[in-house]
Amino acid sequence: MQAIDALLTRRSARTLAEPAPDSGALELIFAAAARAPDHGRLRPWRFVIVRGTARERLGALLADQLRRTHPHSVEETAQRERLKAFRAPLIIVVAAHCEPSAKIPAIEQTLSAGAAAHAMMLAAFALGFNAMWKTGAAAYDATVKQALGLEAGDAIVGFLYLGTESGERAPAARTEWRDRVRELPG
Ligand SMILES: Cc1cc2nc3c(=O)[nH]c(=O)nc-3n(C[C@H](O)[C@H](O)[C@H](O)COP(=O)(O)O)c2cc1C
Repeated sequence: MQAIDALLTRRSARTLAEPAPDSGALELIFAAAARAPDHGRLRPWRFVIVRGTARERLGALLADQLRRTHPHSVEETAQRERLKAFRAPLIIVVAAHCEPSAKIPAIEQTLSAGAAAHAMMLAAFALGFNAMWKTGAAAYDATVKQALGLEAGDAIVGFLYLGTESGERAPAARTEWRDRVRELPG
């Protein structure tokens, strides 16, 4: 697939099933991430792969986060949260590890991680897989971050759900952009 086609036709997958990107595809997906624009060459990206039975651990973390922050919620809600970890065969947690002592502002380091996440989605799409980028309250939870092996100052920019899109879906409608563009008069 041409890069321009991936850019113009990528859309998020609503349902993701096996097969997940295999090790060869994953290598390409991470290599694409590492091409993200990166001010100061800080390589501020961190990735945590969650697949197979590790999804039980992630699901437990999601349910636990819900119970901690909403102690009056019913168990059914916590179970729904837990099942989110099984929405796809592979989840990659994308985080920004911002170096506070660097001259580069933290926002630029976080943006680089966001650019990496987008590159990963595009790479997956171009390779015949698909993805969905999610966050939610768990992404901003210190306990979740710690349990994933991230540092307290790291920012989770997304949970990338990856797999093969099940079922046919119409291509994404073109998104109007003209009303978001203006030219600075000379
Ligand atoms: C930083 C970020 C976080 C997001 N978090 C969620 C989320 O938690 N839940 C959700 O349904 N969509 C979330 N989205 C939006 C979807 O990933 C997706 O972009 C949106 O549904 C539009 O679909 P499309 O990519 O096919 O245009 C998030 C997007 C970004 C960039």
